[in-house]
Amino acid sequence: MSWQEYYKQHCVSAAEAVRMIHSNDVVAIGHAAGEPSALIDAMVGNAENLHGVELLHMVLLGKGPYLDEQMKEHFRHNSLFVGGAARKAVERGQADFTPCYFHRVPELLRTTLQPDVAMIMVSPPDEEGNCSLGVSVDYTMAGALAAKTIIAQVNRHMPRCHGDCFLKVTDIAALVEHDQPLIELQPAVVGETERAIGRNCASLIRDGDCLQLGIGALPDAVLMCLHDKNDLGLHTEMFSDGAIDLIRDGNINGRRKTLHPCKHVSTFLMGTQRLYDFVDDNPSVYMAPVDYVNNPWVIGQNDNLVSINSCVQIDLTGQVCSESVGLRQISAVGGQVDFIRGASLSKGGRSIIAVGSTAAGGRISKIVPVLDEGAAVTTNRMDVEYVVTEYGVADLKGKTLRERAAALIQIAHPDFRPILTEVYTQRFHQKWAV
Ligand code: COA
Repeated sequence: MSWQEYYKQHCVSAAEAVRMIHSNDVVAIGHAAGEPSALIDAMVGNAENLHGVELLHMVLLGKGPYLDEQMKEHFRHNSLFVGGAARKAVERGQADFTPCYFHRVPELLRTTLQPDVAMIMVSPPDEEGNCSLGVSVDYTMAGALAAKTIIAQVNRHMPRCHGDCFLKVTDIAALVEHDQPLIELQPAVVGETERAIGRNCASLIRDGDCLQLGIGALPDAVLMCLHDKNDLGLHTEMFSDGAIDLIRDGNINGRRKTLHPCKHVSTFLMGTQRLYDFVDDNPSVYMAPVDYVNNPWVIGQNDNLVSINSCVQIDLTGQVCSESVGLRQISAVGGQVDFIRGASLSKGGRSIIAVGSTAAGGRISKIVPVLDEGAAVTTNRMDVEYVVTEYGVADLKGKTLRERAAALIQIAHPDFRPILTEVYTQRFHQKWAV
């Protein structure tokens, strides 16, 4: 049977497609901006026929209607990254959190989580019947291939991204044509603090470096400070609107990359429609599954890989918490450790933890004597290298505990330096003046 005939036969409404989900099934849902919203709504619309369905997901950009308290008996969300709407559900015990390095999630899906169904979103098929997973390849590809049944929302707004990101129409059990704009993530507001952090990070970046940028205002602030750099490359978990101008202006061209030269490698994308238009049918953007892109050994094949990520708290010995405020889970490791370890394997590589010196409007120092009770150590002190705040750069690599503490106190907010200095004196039995 031709793929066209197969397509016609398997093209159904969303309501019909979600009848393939049964009580107690495990369902992997397409990630972030690749979330198949029409299928999620249809599944929730069929809730009265479903009990105990486990939903696997990471960054939740949509509303997550299955997290409503009335949905408790029908769906249980197992989050591999706690963001947005999932935070409250995890806090009130209605959803679970499974810690996992991002590059290991596909393996977890294949071996442990084993979804019965994958609900994904794809671009319309090309002339050979290939659908692109577009802006979310990450774990979505592995979730689809591991599932017994794939249900796909075919959306002409899903960019036809290039790379290792295609599924055949004939792999998909139910195809639901439903066009809707992708969920957008507006650029974060970059203030003076973020700009200062961006400038300090940029001081560590050299022409020809290959960059990984995390999410939020800080990556955007760093990108704003790179307009005088040349021949930069991207091998990153994700990128957003902030990278577009640097690519168009030629500052990022990937020419000196030692792996995938001239390609901007990423595993998922979140941003505005401008980003989604930019990556559509753009052969310079190479999308691939997260077990490839985030694999530290793959990352390390890029010379001069510079990773830039953020955190919630860092203690004076260099232990980094990036995912919880005390016991309250607000995020997850994501690709942070994947890239920090990848950078350490890269010839000339460097890793940066970039963070504002304070939280809560300046009332709390993010550089602390000890992490809050219950805080998770996301990046351990053996892995951490540069820490950057608006007050400067601390290089912790190869430093003693005493030297680390001194370096971190110097980049803490001035209001908190006296108390941190007191802690230093007690801990190391010697005075150190700021
Ligand atoms: N004490 C108390 N609260 C704190 C805090 C601290 N030390 N640090 C942050 N917070 C609070 C903030 O006030 C904010 O609260 P709100 O949501 O109620 O406003 C919340 O925690 C998030 O902090 P914020 O600084 O706004 O986060 P961000 O958007 O800059 O992201 C991380 C910072 C660490 C959460 C984010 O970088 C992350 O998730 N990292 C881990 C994953 C990762 O690195 N992935 C890499 C590749 S994408």
